[in-house]
Amino acid sequence: MPLQIQSQLSPLQHEKIKRELLSDEFIDLAKEKTLPIETLMAYYRCVIMEIETKFFVLNEELSLEYDRNPIETIKTRLKSWDSLIKKMRKKNLPMNLTALEENIYDVAGIRVICSFQEDIYRLAESFLRQDDVKLIEIKDYIKNPKPNGYRSLHLIVEVPIFLQNETRYMKAEVQFRTIAMDFWASLEHKLRYKKNISDADAEILGDELLKCSQMSAELDLRMQNVKNKIAAAEKSKK
Ligand code: GTP
Ligand code: MG
Repeated sequence: MPLQIQSQLSPLQHEKIKRELLSDEFIDLAKEKTLPIETLMAYYRCVIMEIETKFFVLNEELSLEYDRNPIETIKTRLKSWDSLIKKMRKKNLPMNLTALEENIYDVAGIRVICSFQEDIYRLAESFLRQDDVKLIEIKDYIKNPKPNGYRSLHLIVEVPIFLQNETRYMKAEVQFRTIAMDFWASLEHKLRYKKNISDADAEILGDELLKCSQMSAELDLRMQNVKNKIAAAEKSKK
């Protein structure tokens, strides 16, 4: 059966885009007949599938070698229209598809949640060693956490999708986190949008979040040590 690239937009989303397309700013988008926005979004869904499969394969292989799964979960997301439009406006980009594709690197997002910190680097290295993965940018917020305490390894990559008549390289953002890093980031993200907090309180809460992040980093290292000690004990028994 041929691969059908279908639009997964809800009728509401369709309406919204149509309204945007009719506005002045999006007039360029409407003119780009050769690559309608839905096709581009379908390509981004395809690159998510390609990258997810690469990690399923690595997980399978590494779990045979180490007798445990290095990947806990993989979460994927296509950037919402709202966020896309907001980000393009923030970056003062012209509202057309070329500008979108060239400048917005996280339309396709893949988050790989690992058991241990070591797994993150092992997986990232294996992934980047693959012939068809081009590294565009790397940000290591594990070695250099953000001032607020955010930890994660971010890669911007280009990976090919194989279409009927062409091979097309698509950009994607891959974020690697341990369970502890993801736990902290998820809660921090939720709290960030809470309103009605005074500046003084916000500073105290910021300090508290930073301390929590440091505790979660220590927890990661201690759990990794426990795992390594168990592995060493098992090895010496053999
Ligand atoms: P963009 O223009 O948004 O790409 O900015 P950037 O490239 O400076 O962002 P960066 O690569 O540092 O982070 C992008 C993504 O990482 C965000 O969309 C979040 O998913 C995540 N992230 C970065 N910083 C934080 C943070 O402080 N807290 C949480 N919860 N998530 C973060
Ligand atoms: Mg970014």
